[in-house]
Amino acid sequence: MVISISHSVVAYVSLLWFVSGTDGVPDPTQRDLLIRQEVSRQTGGRVTLTAAEQKLDAYLHLLKEQEMSAAQFPPAIHFFKAKPLIQKSSIFKLLQKMPKGAALHIHSSALVSVEWLVKNVTYRPNCYICYTWDKSVRFLFSTHQPFPRWDCFFWQLLDTLRAKTEDPVGFDNSLMQYLTLVTEDPDSEYPSQDVVWKKFEKAFLAAAGLISHAPVLRDYIYKGLEELHHDNVLYLEVRSGLSRAYELDGTIHDKVWTLKTFQEVTKKFTADHPDFLGARIIISVHSAAVKEAIELQKEFPDVVAGFDLVGREDSGRSLWYFREALSLPAELSVTLPYFFHAGETDNEGTDVDQNILDALLFNTTRIGHGYALAHHPLAKELSRNRSVAVELCPISNQVLKLVSDLRNHPAAMLMSEGHPMVISSDDPSVFDTTGLSYDFYEAFVGIGGLKGNLGSLKELALNSIRSVLLIFISLSLCFDVTIDVFVFFTKYWKIPSLRGRQNKLVSSSA
Ligand SMILES: *[C@@H]1O[C@H](CO)[C@@H](O)[C@H](O)[C@H]1NC(C)=O
Ligand SMILES: *[C@@H]1O[C@H](CO)[C@@H](O)[C@H](O)[C@H]1NC(C)=O
Ligand SMILES: *[C@@H]1O[C@H](CO)[C@@H](O)[C@H](O)[C@H]1NC(C)=O
Ligand SMILES: [Zn+2]
Repeated sequence: MVISISHSVVAYVSLLWFVSGTDGVPDPTQRDLLIRQEVSRQTGGRVTLTAAEQKLDAYLHLLKEQEMSAAQFPPAIHFFKAKPLIQKSSIFKLLQKMPKGAALHIHSSALVSVEWLVKNVTYRPNCYICYTWDKSVRFLFSTHQPFPRWDCFFWQLLDTLRAKTEDPVGFDNSLMQYLTLVTEDPDSEYPSQDVVWKKFEKAFLAAAGLISHAPVLRDYIYKGLEELHHDNVLYLEVRSGLSRAYELDGTIHDKVWTLKTFQEVTKKFTADHPDFLGARIIISVHSAAVKEAIELQKEFPDVVAGFDLVGREDSGRSLWYFREALSLPAELSVTLPYFFHAGETDNEGTDVDQNILDALLFNTTRIGHGYALAHHPLAKELSRNRSVAVELCPISNQVLKLVSDLRNHPAAMLMSEGHPMVISSDDPSVFDTTGLSYDFYEAFVGIGGLKGNLGSLKELALNSIRSVLLIFISLSLCFDVTIDVFVFFTKYWKIPSLRGRQNKLVSSSA
């Protein structure tokens, strides 16, 4: 019996073999057509490239092949280990030069590089530190020795502590450890999502006392914009809980002060850097404080972009739980755009998984992460029909343990069918990144693979600007800003050409 099957298999195979030599070969022209059709569906698949751009594209393809065949492929390994490899990558260096449009998913409390927090902020006078029982730290600027608190008993002046240490560099590195997730061996240090999220939340608590000091906050926002601008990002929508800021004498400022400060600093920054388009805030809080957000948006329409709920989705409350509160804008007939984190999970069928559809039912403008979107066919169709972009943050998803090898990220599926998508960095200081180039690298090289081309990059950058543009149009906000955003299409999306990369810019055909 076995023998006869294997005989017939052999006969079948040899028949195929025979036929394939002659008429049975699929038509190569047909095959080429199908391949082209399939590629045309991917992100940027319909973007037309100029002759110079095609040359650059061919060069990028070659570089990708080289990086893929190297002993270590950065997107396949943990970002903390991949970072030095990425820094050496020629693709990464090109991505740094590329105009990347808008950064649309970054949290304000993790906006600025940890390097600056430690080397600049902790060196300011009157900075106290306290080591907590759960192996974290708190910082506080104060004119006097701070009183013991429930979470912190013994405060020490950093100046005094530094004067005593024999290894100032090691000391600063130890401070950075508290403010980031960085570790040499992430896989054994963070065996589960629970463990990594605990450390993640601790890093935010540690940074809070530094960032929320009023004089620091001004410099912090400015520095954050500077780092993005330096990475060729032209616009920012930052998620912020508008936490209270404090002065040295203990005076506490409210949310309105924080919004005003953000407005002032952004104004100053755009005056100093006329090619930067601006920045707005998505109010992001742990509870559905929708009423307050509506009021703040009324008062600061040029600063408040909309509303989001934050916190670890997998352990928090679902959007549906807050349905009453979230329906308030519709009831009051006011516009409060939503930008929900949704589907930042790998647990299918849970309430959090369901957040994706609910976010769309609440007319979300974009979907934060949307990691689970690929297995929600209807939600996927809805978001595509409504041009609701997914905010893809690859490094965040990897570090927070949704996926380890980024080639397996579900966004690969979304990218191959051209789903609206933008790239962002989520929490740069905690992941020890700056700008968007690292995340662009992971998305372009790892998730996009060899198929991802210059057209994909162009589309990703343009998507981010389109998303901002759509909001401006829907709110019929100040005309000037809309014009500025149009300028982006014609002026900024230029790519360094292959030769003379420094200055010779090639106009895009978009
Ligand atoms: C810290 O940054 C501020 C503004 O960003 C700058 O004026 C100051 O000189 C810096 N201080 C140190 C110690 O680097
Ligand atoms: C969502 O948009 C639809 C169509 O514009 C509208 O009828 C509905 O009230 C909106 N829902 C919410 C919760 O805002
Ligand atoms: C999306 O749009 C297509 C084409 O207009 C339509 O046939 C389809 O029903 C829409 N899907 C959803 C889920 O609204
Ligand atoms: Zn986020």
